[in-house]
Amino acid sequence: MSQGNIVAIANQKGGVGKSTTAINLGAGLALQGETILIVDLDPQGNTTSGLGIDRESIEMSMYDILVDGAPVSDVLEPTSVRDLHVIPATIELAGAEIELVSMLSREQRLKKSLGEVEEEYDHILIDCPPSLGLLTINGLSAADEVLIPIQCEYYALEGVSQLTRNIELVQNSLNPQLTIEGVVLTMFDGRTTLSSDVVAQVRDHFGETAYKTVIPRTVRLSEAPSYGEPIEAYDPMSRGAIAYRELAREFRRRHGSA
Ligand SMILES: Nc1ncnc2c1ncn2[C@@H]1O[C@H](COP(=O)(O)OP(=O)(O)OP(=O)(O)O)[C@@H](O)[C@H]1O
Ligand SMILES: [Mg+2]
Repeated sequence: MSQGNIVAIANQKGGVGKSTTAINLGAGLALQGETILIVDLDPQGNTTSGLGIDRESIEMSMYDILVDGAPVSDVLEPTSVRDLHVIPATIELAGAEIELVSMLSREQRLKKSLGEVEEEYDHILIDCPPSLGLLTINGLSAADEVLIPIQCEYYALEGVSQLTRNIELVQNSLNPQLTIEGVVLTMFDGRTTLSSDVVAQVRDHFGETAYKTVIPRTVRLSEAPSYGEPIEAYDPMSRGAIAYRELAREFRRRHGSA
């Protein structure tokens, strides 16, 4: 098993399913026997709250790691899923984007910090914010691979070329090892030809890089975060749970662990 493989979940387009994928792929992998750390790199903290971490109870967060160099082991928290841990984010993290600008090795601070715990996890999933600023650059610099969620909607591929250009920039300067791990299509609506068109378009553009598993649009997936639960806990028989379970299997096959 490849120990400590770090995957950034990134797309600067907002609302495409990055956090939903971080939570539910992470939980799926943990339930399939892997030890997983999810890193919330978004000041919105959707992944943090979606994993049931109460904002009020957070004493240290991603901000303390990036800005003050706090040890990761002091910040990470367990979740309701065994072997699934999270580094929580709060709105404070929005300030880090600015404070980092003047800091030494500002693009590599996350990478350095994750190095402390990398060996303890089978995979570390980084949920990036919907921007291409310093937080996302830290995510891409720390990662071995990028997983790109693409929503099945009009203009699905718009912005993807900008993202791939940025990935190339990071490859050229900060992280030559970085590869695109995969593309996952989200919020597929089987009743529309639009969704099928987007799937065809993305498969045409990305070939084998696109996951076979497609995530359906289902209300259950959008409800689960408000209960602080991954879909596997909220409604394990639902279509969303089945899809993310299958995505986790496919992910593990790609990484030689299933
Ligand atoms: N497959 C799905 N079916 C239905 N709703 C979904 C699905 N995936 C995500 N959602 C909902 O769509 C919204 C956006 O999803 P999510 O927060 O995962 O996207 P994001 O890319 O992380 O957004 P942001 O760019 O703001 O961080 C959320 O309300 C989420 O609950
Ligand atoms: Mg998000």
